[in-house]
Amino acid sequence: MDKTIAVIRGDGIGPEIVKETVGVLDAVAEKFGHRFTYKEAPMGGNAIDAFGVPLPDASLETCLSSDSVLLGAVGGPRWDSQPPANRPEKGLLKLRAAMGLYTNVRPARMFSELASACPLRADIANRGIDFVVVRELIGGLYFGEHTTVEENGEKKARDICEYSETEIRRVARVAFEMARKRRKRVTSVDKSNVLDTSRLWRAVVTEVAGEYPDVELLHMYVDNASMQMVKDPSQFDVIVTENLFGDILSDEASQITGSIGMIPSSSMGDGTRGLYEPIHGSAPDIAGQNKANPIGTILAAAMMLRYSFNMAAEAAAIENAVDQTLKAGFRCGDIMEQGCTLLGCTEMGAEICGRI
Ligand code: IPM
Ligand code: MG
Repeated sequence: MDKTIAVIRGDGIGPEIVKETVGVLDAVAEKFGHRFTYKEAPMGGNAIDAFGVPLPDASLETCLSSDSVLLGAVGGPRWDSQPPANRPEKGLLKLRAAMGLYTNVRPARMFSELASACPLRADIANRGIDFVVVRELIGGLYFGEHTTVEENGEKKARDICEYSETEIRRVARVAFEMARKRRKRVTSVDKSNVLDTSRLWRAVVTEVAGEYPDVELLHMYVDNASMQMVKDPSQFDVIVTENLFGDILSDEASQITGSIGMIPSSSMGDGTRGLYEPIHGSAPDIAGQNKANPIGTILAAAMMLRYSFNMAAEAAAIENAVDQTLKAGFRCGDIMEQGCTLLGCTEMGAEICGRI
């Protein structure tokens, strides 16, 4: 197959981890007889420096005309003084909205080799951590109106949170479809004891559950969910939630699996074109030092092959190569433990490539 992949290297460690990931994709292409063509799409702080805006029109065009998009990470303290509308993160939000990517999937699975990196008590971790956060990605507070006004001599800020039934229904369906292929349990997370958007969320998710009698639906308030996630994560299979709650809970979910550096994510809409990225940030403190862990991005590429290109065997080849590399005792700094071999980003990429 011939596929065009838009590549957003981004800021901080972004370029390093994407370079290793492209190497792994090339190894897959060679082994399975595909051709991947990469098109650069500058976005984030580097795009602000070069073009004055975080997402130049040409980059957006490149993403919209490619078969899929691979992203490293964007942002960094250097661009903190940018006006809110021109921050690196704005580029990412604009891209998600323009591509119609309403579903963000973030798997939280503990690699058995990394059990000692899990911050939870062993008796809790041993029950198993293998769930998925399905986060609504282009609605809610993130995309409501943001305003700061001067009133009676002081500033007042406002962020509007809105959800329509359609916006809730479409992401709920994705969660139920996914649960069907897993352990058949959806936990819908909201704050319906306080928020109208959450009351609507709960009503619509309950209605969608009617289409999936084989899947169990539980509702949980977000504060309780964040507590349950460290108390007994084995109770979760598929969590579905709105944008801001999903942002927060997916960071918590990644950390309990050992390292945020290991977790990939996919963002999709109605078509097959998606945006694939690690869930971690640009880690400016270790940028350019060959210290970053490329595994989150490499596993994101595996998700791209599976979900956008329907290449299940190719995706499994990447996931197995990662497993084997960990089994062989190779680690990056974030997951390093006694008795293992510490690798830089480049060397980790090479070890994984060699096992494709
Ligand atoms: C994420 C990030 C982004 C978000 C930021 C960079 C805008 O934290 O993908 O989770 O909040 O969605
Ligand atoms: Mg986040």
